[in-house]
Amino acid sequence: MKKVLFLVTLGTLVIVFTMLTALNAGAWDNSLAKTPPMGWNSWNIFHEKINETQIKQIADAMVSTGMKDAGYIYLNLDDNWMANPARDSNGYLRSDPTRFPSGIKALADYVHAKGLKLGIYGDRGTMTCVNVPQSGSKGYEDRDAKTFASWGVDYLKYDNCNIPSGSDMKTDYQKMQTALANCGRPIVFSICAWEYQSWMPTTGNLWRTTRDIVDQWDATGHPYGFVGIINAIDQNSKYTNSAGPGAWNDPDMLEIGNNGCTTEEYRTQMSMWCMMASPLLAGNDVRNMAQATKDILLNKEVIAVDQDPAGKQGYRVKSSNGNEVWVKPLADGTKAVALLNRNSSASTITANWSDIGITGSAAVRDLWAKADKGTFNGSYSASVPSHGTVVLKISSGPLATPTPAQTPTPAPTPIPRSAFSKLEAENYNDISSSSIQKIDTANGGSGVGYIEMGNYLVYKNIDFGSGANSFKALVADLLNINIELRLNNPTGTLLGTLKVTETGDWNTYQEQSCSINNVKGVNDLYLVFSGPVNLDWFTFEGVTNTPAPTINVNTPTQPVVATGDLNNDGVINMADVIILAIAFNSVRGDISYNPLYDLTHDDAINMADVIIIASKFNIVITKNAL
Ligand code: GLA
Repeated sequence: MKKVLFLVTLGTLVIVFTMLTALNAGAWDNSLAKTPPMGWNSWNIFHEKINETQIKQIADAMVSTGMKDAGYIYLNLDDNWMANPARDSNGYLRSDPTRFPSGIKALADYVHAKGLKLGIYGDRGTMTCVNVPQSGSKGYEDRDAKTFASWGVDYLKYDNCNIPSGSDMKTDYQKMQTALANCGRPIVFSICAWEYQSWMPTTGNLWRTTRDIVDQWDATGHPYGFVGIINAIDQNSKYTNSAGPGAWNDPDMLEIGNNGCTTEEYRTQMSMWCMMASPLLAGNDVRNMAQATKDILLNKEVIAVDQDPAGKQGYRVKSSNGNEVWVKPLADGTKAVALLNRNSSASTITANWSDIGITGSAAVRDLWAKADKGTFNGSYSASVPSHGTVVLKISSGPLATPTPAQTPTPAPTPIPRSAFSKLEAENYNDISSSSIQKIDTANGGSGVGYIEMGNYLVYKNIDFGSGANSFKALVADLLNINIELRLNNPTGTLLGTLKVTETGDWNTYQEQSCSINNVKGVNDLYLVFSGPVNLDWFTFEGVTNTPAPTINVNTPTQPVVATGDLNNDGVINMADVIILAIAFNSVRGDISYNPLYDLTHDDAINMADVIIIASKFNIVITKNAL
């Protein structure tokens, strides 16, 4: 009886959440990009050095090499196609007269005649990232969208540089979305704002989840936060539930064939981009491709995993000692499974049927070896080279839903955090501006920089205990600026102001402090900046001058996290489901995200959390047990 009740409950929950997911996915439907866009982009290989002759040669090569037939349709110009200054005397964008003498319309005609589509690049600020005067679309959104349409452009990548103060990222991207919707031509909208935000799936067809990719396996510690292949995989995997037909997470363009990584590493980039239903934009010189590069970019069976019509982003189900198993459910009921080896030597990795939601015997095909491996019961193991990935297609009988595993570095938000501990500047819950970036500080560790006037950082649930009366921060600055400490909102109660004195260098850090009005208990703290500063950490001192014990930032302090009893009423029931539903599909950083509901600690409120609640449905928890 209990089992029947559980199954009915689970069934109801799945229906409710399928509806919610469908609603929440709410992708902007311009009928484009029903599968992840595929093509080529000029940036990774040519950077700002692009011209008409070379782009036409690329178009020719896209056809002659079989790239077009494999699905790579978009030929995308990146930054620096514009003249300098970029606008004519009437304010219309124009291409560089020397490098693109025939103009973009002629180039689009050439590309279209080859059966390809043309993509172009713009920016929401005043100038693109290579600082061509007048090249930004700020204030020119409608006019520029119509210009692109009149040229026959099919795809716009819209970047995030040179943002005037007072701009709001969401407003800017939505302005261009509306402009594209009204420009009279279907144009794929690619948001390039270097991080995920929850409004993106309803605003664009794809959105970058990472800063720029570099041609390396691991770029941890890069001065601009740029990412290597493995870093991009980890960042992009946080937003699995946001992807679906018409709307895709974008871990940036492919580096395959650019020589900075091994063949195995490039095979991993292709494998994991396809497992994650990512846009596939080749970034190499397709006029001159080595066979190994062709073998990777043109593997149609692996591409089919990316382009599967169900449009599900695959996810990690197991991670142990650098060996990972990922699964992507496919439209025909089979599963793509990736065995990823992060280690520096070969490993044998096993996909257990129980991890990937399969029962009984199953047929296994290796998509890189292009070989049927036979029928297996319970599991399949393969030796995977260092930094390599094996991709399998597994077909079996009845399929169960596998449970996503935690990301490798789950970071539960501390609730509350002690004001008297050293609060790392980058561990904020919310920020006012996308321009703020995590930076490596000269004295080790990381902090935040690229702060502008009016920006603020939010630290939720800071515990000031029985009272704090002074503030201390480690700062580096070339200017004298103010950091206001406010409660509950950016114009809330002012506790005090740290008048930062310039330290002579952006890398020379000094402790600077100020006294503040006495504050007690748990509060949301806002650090509001009057100008640029690099901030490493800060802390408060108590009224009695006795620092309170530091709460370990990695230890969740609310046992309710593990139970699923979200409203703490002693029973796991529909009330908890409704709470989860309201926050469903939010990710850490969203307003609706609450770490208390993130039962799997994967930085997202998603189906995995529902499954935990469903498995405990109607269980009574005594208050003492909490
Ligand atoms: C930004 C983008 C890159 C590229 C360059 C061009 O850095 O993230 O993908 O478009 O600008 O300047």
